[in-house]
Amino acid sequence: MKILRTNIRKGLHGELRVPGDKSISHRSIIFGAISSGETEVTHFLPSDDCLSTIRAFQAIGVPVEHTHDRVLIHGVTLSGLQAPRRPLNMGNSGTTTRLLLGLLSGQPFSAQLTGDQSLSRRPMRRVTDPLSEAGARFDLTEGGTLPITVHGNPNLRPIRYPLPVASAQVKSALILAALQADGKSTIIEKQQTRDHTERMLKAFGGDIEQSGLTITVTGKPHLTGRKLAVPGDISSAAFFIAAALLVPGSLITLKQVGINPTRSGFLDVLKRMGADIQVKHPVHQAEAFADLTARCSELRAIRLSRPDIPAVIDELPLIALLATQAQGVTEITGAEELRVKETDRITVVTEELNQLGARITELPDGMLIHGPTPLHLPEDQKVDSHGDHRIGMMLAVAALTLKGELKLLNDSAISISYPGFFSDLDQLIAKGSVRL
Ligand code: S3P
Repeated sequence: MKILRTNIRKGLHGELRVPGDKSISHRSIIFGAISSGETEVTHFLPSDDCLSTIRAFQAIGVPVEHTHDRVLIHGVTLSGLQAPRRPLNMGNSGTTTRLLLGLLSGQPFSAQLTGDQSLSRRPMRRVTDPLSEAGARFDLTEGGTLPITVHGNPNLRPIRYPLPVASAQVKSALILAALQADGKSTIIEKQQTRDHTERMLKAFGGDIEQSGLTITVTGKPHLTGRKLAVPGDISSAAFFIAAALLVPGSLITLKQVGINPTRSGFLDVLKRMGADIQVKHPVHQAEAFADLTARCSELRAIRLSRPDIPAVIDELPLIALLATQAQGVTEITGAEELRVKETDRITVVTEELNQLGARITELPDGMLIHGPTPLHLPEDQKVDSHGDHRIGMMLAVAALTLKGELKLLNDSAISISYPGFFSDLDQLIAKGSVRL
């Protein structure tokens, strides 16, 4: 349980560098492991989810040295992975699970994957079905969930698969399997999703082509380890940006935040809502990054539909919070994937924000949010992350605008993606009080 900061009168101020991107950090371990030579990763995100990835790779025979945000991976190549001695514990991490299922499906051994309660409810057939078509075998629960035993097949067939869901995790699992098949595989996306795997595969020397929504991967590449600096996580930066937009008097800059166009939909959405947000000093590399400046703003309602969703999928709880303070009715549709995240984020966002005074109506595939509604303390003065890191941080941002004492239950979930969240938030708040 954590007592949240409330009643922030002087706003958020100053500069901050948020921790490394979670999606890119996971992938840096995976590609480092399957390459030859060393991969040195800086500004790695040392959060619970990424530590699950490190531990899993150590358990399958990959030497990984880790000190805070610097990681050194001694690559073993695709043919150097070893059978784990015990089940691999994925913790809460959907990305570790799905990407590892793809990778292990081409290996000459079996492995069992387990996870925590939340992860053990999440759908896995979306990866095991296409991987079975390629020749791997899986034992999974009747509901298609963890625990799963993957029986790898070193003679995987090339894949040709139109993805039925817009999911970067599923796409990435298939790319990792395709790397182990002879010849070319084709994966056709339903909608463009984050392309960190494609970019990193190229950076490590792999052969992958994209034409529209069609991705072609050549199997059995020779990948070479390299140095890699992870940009700041835009999904973490998003919490402070939202806080600055909501708390009067705020002006903050977040340094070197990843602005990959398949991930930065939040910035476009904010501009459409009328937010004062600026992107400065962009650096265009394999993964582009820039400094983001946000200032407290009047917001207006927007409509988000299916084509908008993949680029903002993790930011939708925050967009819902911002919409409670925007003029008009915000409509979010085509977002049923939110129901199979760490929690059912449609129900949890609706319930938690409505008890703070929001007027949100749940839709099967989204939400209708009526704004602006002043937020107030709930009767029992408690909100609950329900074990979902992004819900916990969104509620901590909501609290900044309230008066009185508010407790956050299950706050420890926040370390899944942002262990230093509260101290970074305190830093931005403290700078506010120094300057004014
Ligand atoms: C991720 C993809 C998204 C996202 C998750 C991370 C990734 O999940 O929500 O936080 O790193 O590939 P889906 O692929 O299930 O949409």
